[in-house]
Amino acid sequence: MNPPQVIPTHVTIIMDGNGRWARERGKDRIYGHFEGVESVRAVVEAATEWGIRYLSFFAFSEENWGRPAAEVEGLMQLMLESMRKELPTFRAHGTRFVVLGNRGRLSAKLNATIDDIMAQTADGEALTMILFISYSGKWDILQAARRMAEAGGDTLEPYLVTAGIPDPDLLIRTSGEKRLSNYLLWQTAYTEFVFTDTLWPDFRKEQFRSALEEYASRDRRFGKIK
Ligand code: IPE
Ligand code: IPE
Ligand code: MG
Repeated sequence: MNPPQVIPTHVTIIMDGNGRWARERGKDRIYGHFEGVESVRAVVEAATEWGIRYLSFFAFSEENWGRPAAEVEGLMQLMLESMRKELPTFRAHGTRFVVLGNRGRLSAKLNATIDDIMAQTADGEALTMILFISYSGKWDILQAARRMAEAGGDTLEPYLVTAGIPDPDLLIRTSGEKRLSNYLLWQTAYTEFVFTDTLWPDFRKEQFRSALEEYASRDRRFGKIK
């Protein structure tokens, strides 16, 4: 597979459709989440190969806490196990692993694991892989505004959880839904959006490449005239 013609600096993905993928197969929703982890692995591998610098994923929204406890627990357990399992690969590929979101809502065990993996990959210089967990765009703006006011500052960016990370050039959402679902509200001001009907567990390297091809055809003007 040839690399895409244009490589954006930051690609972010709203991974959606795991539940529907499982239902289509007469399986429990968690089965879809398990298969979704394989898609994350495939997309991270492709991003590393193509030299993408930042790749982020919406893994769990603040609103997702409202799902049945068994699904929430299953997802938390899956995230914990998956990040542990991927650590050697992260280290081998120079991947810096970062988790952003309302970390105060996560279990002590998950937080300890996240801290450990972030520390062990902090020197990664190839791809920065970001997982947004317990994240809400409105929450991010609010916590940033509070901290900015406390510090007497007048620019918000340094206080958003994404401080230091370039805004996404491309946002991909799978499963046919065409909404932001309270994801990166501030940071997507000039992001290009690609929506695909593919359910997240079916989204692999080929589908990722297609989304990047669509991005390559866009004319980004940032309000100016070319
Ligand atoms: C995305 O898949 C994963 C999370 C939101 C955690 P869903 O679980 O939302 O799957 P659908 O949208 O119900 O098919
Ligand atoms: C958005 O998907 C959140 C994540 C992918 C983590 P949802 O499935 O929760 O969003 P809605 O409910 O369809 O808007
Ligand atoms: Mg969904």
